[in-house]
Amino acid sequence: MARHLLTLDSLGRDGIRHTLDLAVRIKSRRGMTRDALAGGRVGLIFDKPSLRTRVSFEAAAWGLGMLPMTLRSDEIQIGGRESIPDSARIVSRYLSALAIRTFEQAKVEELARYATIPIINALTDDHHPCQALADVMTLEEEFKSFDGLRLAYVGDGNNVCHSLIQAAGYLGFTLAISTPEGYEPDPAIVATAQANCRVNGGAIELGHDREAAVRGADAVYTDIWASMGQEKERAERAIAFAGYCVDGALMKLAAPRAIFLHCLPAHRGDEVTDEVMDGPHSRVWDEAENRWYTEQAVLYLLITGDETGERLE
Ligand code: CP
Ligand code: NVA
Repeated sequence: MARHLLTLDSLGRDGIRHTLDLAVRIKSRRGMTRDALAGGRVGLIFDKPSLRTRVSFEAAAWGLGMLPMTLRSDEIQIGGRESIPDSARIVSRYLSALAIRTFEQAKVEELARYATIPIINALTDDHHPCQALADVMTLEEEFKSFDGLRLAYVGDGNNVCHSLIQAAGYLGFTLAISTPEGYEPDPAIVATAQANCRVNGGAIELGHDREAAVRGADAVYTDIWASMGQEKERAERAIAFAGYCVDGALMKLAAPRAIFLHCLPAHRGDEVTDEVMDGPHSRVWDEAENRWYTEQAVLYLLITGDETGERLE
């Protein structure tokens, strides 16, 4: 079992499968597994804003009987008042796990190299593995299997897109990505996932035609056009992404039973219309709720290494 969750590569196919199986069990108990990690402590650091990740990790820690400790990044200054390796050594003496949202993926990876506790990537510029776990849990709840599943991703080839690409490679579904030119996902992440698809099934398809990506899809996914840290590019991106809104007409090209997913927060009227967000295909609130259960499963698996989940009973 992985020690850290830095990208979905840390978990691989088996680790993702164990996480999803445990999350389903935790959901059936409404997140209450109070004795599983009683006395444990999880630190939470947010160098960028958060609603879902912050609240779902606190709720997940509490559900396991752990103390969630949200640490003000301006106060503790990881890598500021002392080196990242020294910060990692220190937090390892107090905590059972540390989840961190920050800008550079390299910072999370450096923490993991020196920490003796699990380090969890709660979003970086390059990856959002915790989000993708809740996304695939929501897909599996709806469709029961990933075999033959087609997910269309419309928008920016960003952190959320990268984690979905990795998920598709390990779980063997088809991810059809449609971005404006110049906003494609990282080719190295795509190539690795395509190699995994050759073993596990599915495919990663890239293009610029949103209608081609969505036609016949079982699910349609989008994310904001300017991610946290890209606020200065907002006007320029609004022009580049103008044709990439998921609206009712686009959803009509998907399969009749298709669902709509979004990591949230949504910018209604930009990447998605109210009609789609609030319409019958939308599963965005279930998807957000599933963050709670997948985060709980991640904490449990990384801290205990127990894939059977026997301490959850
Ligand atoms: N989807 C997600 O990670 O939301 P927050 O930024 O609110 O945590
Ligand atoms: N791509 C978005 C995801 C937010 C959950 C961002 O990084 O801001």
